[in-house]
Amino acid sequence: MSIELSRRDEFAIITLSRPEALNALNVRMIEDIGAAIDEVGASDARTLIFTGEGDKAFCAGADIKELLDRSLVDAKRGAELGQWTFAKLDRLPMPSVAAINGYAFGGGLELALACTFRVAGANAKMGLPEIKLGAIPGYGGTQRLPRVVGESRALDMIMTGRTVDAAEAERIGLVNRIGDGDTLDAAIDFAREFAGFSLPVLGFAREAVTRASDSPINEGLRIEADLNTLAFQTEDVVEGMNAFVDKRKAEFKDA
Ligand code: CAA
Repeated sequence: MSIELSRRDEFAIITLSRPEALNALNVRMIEDIGAAIDEVGASDARTLIFTGEGDKAFCAGADIKELLDRSLVDAKRGAELGQWTFAKLDRLPMPSVAAINGYAFGGGLELALACTFRVAGANAKMGLPEIKLGAIPGYGGTQRLPRVVGESRALDMIMTGRTVDAAEAERIGLVNRIGDGDTLDAAIDFAREFAGFSLPVLGFAREAVTRASDSPINEGLRIEADLNTLAFQTEDVVEGMNAFVDKRKAEFKDA
């Protein structure tokens, strides 16, 4: 297996584990990631965290050697496999975080972009360099990068293929935090900031925000009102508001 699924406390961790190829993604690995995402989705984990084995790379992208000499049909299937696999993260009941410990290029950055959040190590280097290979991103990068950093910055990164360091990535909103020390530890610390909140209500917040970029404002406001109303039907909202009035810490039950 070139990925590993493990657990630390309430957090599920998928480690991309092909360090000899800087954790580059081959088809088998993407299939394994899909199966692992399904397994985490059915578990009681409160966050899914992705990391890469070793201290050099999160993931250097799709396996370039495997991309060579494919038929048109196989190339389309390959892009769809990557897109569908990463899109599973949108429907996961828990948030996901990419712990970007080193290089995140091409499909590696596209995996990170499909996560709810990104935490970069100080040594992180990110980019969509496909243009240098005569190609364009194929695992969702052209769609997710502009949603995260805006169209102008996305076109800059995709059409120059340039590398962005951790400081720039944080400045443009490509990553949420830069971690001191171990990047996985930093991602777990970040996940602890929301791990105690109600999982279904976190899901409503995530859905409202992610649907904003696909919806005209009036439609988006209606979605927000509906999801806000749903949140007010949960036991957790009763607990949260009573805890405020009682001046105690809320104990959410995901109900
Ligand atoms: N695919 C296959 N193998 C890769 C790889 C990749 N994407 N990236 C690195 N490797 C392999 C190298 O071939 C090398 O293996 P060998 O020792 O057998 O030659 C090993 O990993 C170490 O790599 P380097 O010697 O190149 O390491 P470096 O430190 O000198 O450079 C790097 C690191 C800058 C990340 C460089 O490896 C690199 O540029 N990699 C390719 C990055 C890239 O272009 N990614 C996009 C891929 S296409 C894609 O992802 C399409 C899509 O949208 C889905």
